Amino acid sequence: MADAPSTPDVPAKPDVIVVGGGIIGLSAAWKLQNDGVDVVVVDPAPGTGATHAAAGMLAPIHEAYWGEGHILRLNLAASQAWPAFANSLGIDAVDYRRNGMLMAAYDADDKALLDNLGDLHEQEGLPVERLRSRECRSREPLLAPGVRGGVYSPLDHQVNPRRVVAELLNRVPTVPVSAAEVAPNQVTTDDGRVMTCRQVVVAAGAWSGRLLGLPIRPIKGQILRLSGPAGLLRLPVRGVVRGSSVYAVPRSDGEIVVGATQEEQGFDTRVTAGGVYELLRDVLALLPGLSEIDLVETWAGLRPGAPDNAPIIGTGDDGIVYATGHYRNGILTAPITATAVSALVQGHKTPLDLSPFSPNRFDARPSGHTPHPGHLSGVPA
Ligand code: GLY
Repeated sequence: MADAPSTPDVPAKPDVIVVGGGIIGLSAAWKLQNDGVDVVVVDPAPGTGATHAAAGMLAPIHEAYWGEGHILRLNLAASQAWPAFANSLGIDAVDYRRNGMLMAAYDADDKALLDNLGDLHEQEGLPVERLRSRECRSREPLLAPGVRGGVYSPLDHQVNPRRVVAELLNRVPTVPVSAAEVAPNQVTTDDGRVMTCRQVVVAAGAWSGRLLGLPIRPIKGQILRLSGPAGLLRLPVRGVVRGSSVYAVPRSDGEIVVGATQEEQGFDTRVTAGGVYELLRDVLALLPGLSEIDLVETWAGLRPGAPDNAPIIGTGDDGIVYATGHYRNGILTAPITATAVSALVQGHKTPLDLSPFSPNRFDARPSGHTPHPGHLSGVPA
């Protein structure tokens, strides 16, 4: 495990400035630093954006959708990068847990949706187990007796994103400013300061669109935190409940993260009565035993989404390195994105073919969005 300096020094003349202090920017900066590159992250409030809201599912299988094979392959490679990444920060420190994930269907229509996803898993050769109702409940006794069936994925894991950020902030220098303009070798901050470097990397999540003129938009996710006895919920559970998707992710300390809505509302992070109601309605239908434990937090974050749901990782025609648009999989893909960014900055071969994720694929500037099946605007996803 790498040693964590208590207060990382800000280099006077950084080689690289990373704009954005979420898990993507911080992981990229840390990888660059480990590769001997002087780096600084600029962000007015590191770790408080989408990463702070995220449940931390590392779920390439349960986040697989028809027609998104290139994203699935990136996510599978990302999943393989996680053990070493978590180990370097401290497995317990970041609460990295490899106990698989269960997706359960609430009613017959939900079961049909799950069966359809099961066909995708089979076609892609993914290692899943299709389970009957009783088998679901023996894996996760908290599930409602009426669940119709499920799919267990041993490859889908979890981590606590807030703890990952805390560890990274102990290791990576940050400057608490907003970037107003970016160029390949300089960042102009909100207060008019010009910071120069050899290479700028933009990892500003939902804000990257504004900064770069890219079709990235915020997709709001409201999320809840419950707290109960440790081990009450054994497994992370994703459910389809009357066509809506919901998940509950247990931490080692008894916290359970319940998420998340998927809403197209612009830069709006209000927590609404309707959002909280939908999450509680669906999670309690699936896991009724959670009704007695404490509701300790409500929150909302903004996922950065591109029109084709794929992340944007690569060097743009403008000379800026892009690491953004990770949509529902920012936590999962942070380590592999970090490795890719470091390779791009240093002119090395990237860990995988990044052409499907090129920032230059938006020349036609498409404005639409490809919704995931079962993820309706305004309902939990
Ligand atoms: N990755 C889960 C979510 O975006 O809600």
